[in-house]
Amino acid sequence: MKKHNFSAGPSILANEVFEKASLSVKELNNSGLSLIEISHRSKDFVKIMEEARQLSLELLNLNSDDFTSLFLQGGASTQFLMIAYNFLKNKAGYINTGAWSVKAMKEAKLFGSVDEIASSQDKNFNYIPKDYKIDGSPDYLHITSNNTIFGTQFHSFPVTDSDLFADMSSDIFCRNIDYSKFSLIYAGAQKNLGAAGTTLVVIKKNLLEKICREVPSMLNYKIHFEKDSMFNTPPVFAVYTCLLSLRWLLENGGIDEIEKKNNLKSKLLYDEIDRNSQFKGFANIDDRSIMNATFNLVNDSNKDLFEKMASEQNISGINGHRSVGGYRASIYNAMPYESIDVLVQLMKKFENIV
Ligand SMILES: Cc1ncc(COP(=O)(O)O)c(C=O)c1O
Repeated sequence: MKKHNFSAGPSILANEVFEKASLSVKELNNSGLSLIEISHRSKDFVKIMEEARQLSLELLNLNSDDFTSLFLQGGASTQFLMIAYNFLKNKAGYINTGAWSVKAMKEAKLFGSVDEIASSQDKNFNYIPKDYKIDGSPDYLHITSNNTIFGTQFHSFPVTDSDLFADMSSDIFCRNIDYSKFSLIYAGAQKNLGAAGTTLVVIKKNLLEKICREVPSMLNYKIHFEKDSMFNTPPVFAVYTCLLSLRWLLENGGIDEIEKKNNLKSKLLYDEIDRNSQFKGFANIDDRSIMNATFNLVNDSNKDLFEKMASEQNISGINGHRSVGGYRASIYNAMPYESIDVLVQLMKKFENIV
């Protein structure tokens, strides 16, 4: 029986993505060949890459005259260093909302000075900093729009004259915001998009003129752009799963519709976390993520019981990250309302018996 998969990533995808992706491994589009044996230069694959790049922009409501999208390798972690390698000339600003921002800053320090403009470390990253001043004009300002570990999400964005960069690994395509405010967005595929192995990068074309040093080819955004995201062999299977998810999103009403569903789904869960006497939410209410809900037991000695009950309900992947403990329900775009309801019913039942 298929489990209710609350994993933070790799994570749940729409059923039809799993189905079409598995068929393509046997044979792609009646070509007599598997997706993973065709040349990436073949017409069939070039079409897949072009459509995935174009659909990403279309769904984010970005104009292809001003923006481009790339499917790169090395995970979001490689973007931590690539952005700085390409664009950190003197000083960059970072808002530190936890582990992923810390890792991004560590890489950036290899290339220039890093100004930690604000941090929520004082409260174990359970909130998004709001009162801060940006001194000077950093080369760029970097945020992690959704912190997967702590379950916090920016609901409004810094106002700055600098280029705004965002790690949207765990919340890309989940809500309708003005994506054109960002000069660069990146997201590892394995949460809201597709199979692990590729990272979507959306970049303002004029930013490519600001590359500030000689950068090795594989880490150079301009080279990937000039080669239509095919500088070397792309991860064909991962890119195809992204395309299938993007088509699924479009067929289901695009970002506006998914945002409505995500709001309903996260409300269902947060309402229960707040109502239930046996649980408490981790993240500050105003900064809660609609993708990753973090919560703890009021009484940790009931841990084994709750986890046994969860496993009996076929619930998988709700253990929190070690730095927060407790639980984290990742409720990405493909997570059905019904699965969240199973979790909510379980929480009610648990409250009744402890
Ligand atoms: C917000 C965020 N950024 C970056 C990463 C790292 O991604 P990758 O494993 O693709 O390097 C993760 C992974 O979970 C993440 O949640």
